[in-house]
Amino acid sequence: MEDFTQIREGILRDIRSSVSLEDAEDKRIKYLSKKGEITLLFGQIKTIAPDKKREFGQFVNSLRDEALDLINEVKAGFSDKNKEPIDTTLPGRKFYRGRYHPLNLIKDELKTIFGQMGFSVATGPEVETEYYIFDALNMPSWHPARKTTDSLYVDKGRLLRTETSSVQIRTMEKGKPPFRIISPGRVYRNEKENATHTAMFTQCEGLYINRGVSFAELKGTLKEFFKALYGKNTQVRFRPHFFPFTEPSAEVDVSCFKCGGAGCSLCKSSGWLELGGCGMVHPKVLENVGVDSEEFTGFAFGLGIERLAMLKYGVNDIRDFTENDLRFLEQF
Ligand code: DAH
Repeated sequence: MEDFTQIREGILRDIRSSVSLEDAEDKRIKYLSKKGEITLLFGQIKTIAPDKKREFGQFVNSLRDEALDLINEVKAGFSDKNKEPIDTTLPGRKFYRGRYHPLNLIKDELKTIFGQMGFSVATGPEVETEYYIFDALNMPSWHPARKTTDSLYVDKGRLLRTETSSVQIRTMEKGKPPFRIISPGRVYRNEKENATHTAMFTQCEGLYINRGVSFAELKGTLKEFFKALYGKNTQVRFRPHFFPFTEPSAEVDVSCFKCGGAGCSLCKSSGWLELGGCGMVHPKVLENVGVDSEEFTGFAFGLGIERLAMLKYGVNDIRDFTENDLRFLEQF
């Protein structure tokens, strides 16, 4: 037993005295490789007297484990020390601050401005059924928007939503009037991309349904919104238009804030910028969701968020919003 203890301590001491990583590796070879001293001890088991065999076997096994653990520990100590020292005289690394995407800046502004007028935010799925996108919104079966040349179908009867107007239906189905919501979100169309069109873009839907809501309130609401977004002097005009889900319907323009209405390249000399569609919700739409159109009236609108952002920030190409070029994104 005493011999064993001496052998063990001698070996462990030798390993502990390693002076470098390489030295520790040499010790591993010396003791634990195929012809290493500890490995060779295993071969001697057969020369040991039978009553001592067991004790000797246990000793050699645990010595091998201990030696290996110690070598690894010693090596780890050296590799820590060998790490590059920290140079405290180097200048610090520049801290880059993240920024909001310009579309999110506009979305936040929409939520704030309409929020102050009592609108809450509603959401709906981007993969929709034809019912929510077309049928419930009073779009006839022959409407061109229903064709695969205009819309992106996922499978029969299901498509990527072409407008956020479907959220009007989902909102009204779920509750009882009054409703006062906006719903910003992505929409998709089968479009060839160019400077003003992309297959994916963002809209903000608006809906207000209550007793006795009039077109005057629609005008007032959008006027307040555009003044808050583009400045107090902004003029707003409504041009008669047609949408299947509103009656009467209108397109809404704001006076060009670049030239003040005199005519310039931004407004193509017209003095006005077109920003969205709106109107009084069609009685059929209300009836489709079980709202009594004799008792309740209301208005709806749909605004293009990219267009709002392009005009506000002077962006000339709609594709810039999705290209993820930092030179563009860092300007906001
Ligand atoms: N959904 C229309 C579009 O994508 C926009 C729109 C027009 C929405 C009039 C409305 C509305 O809610 O009343 O072109």
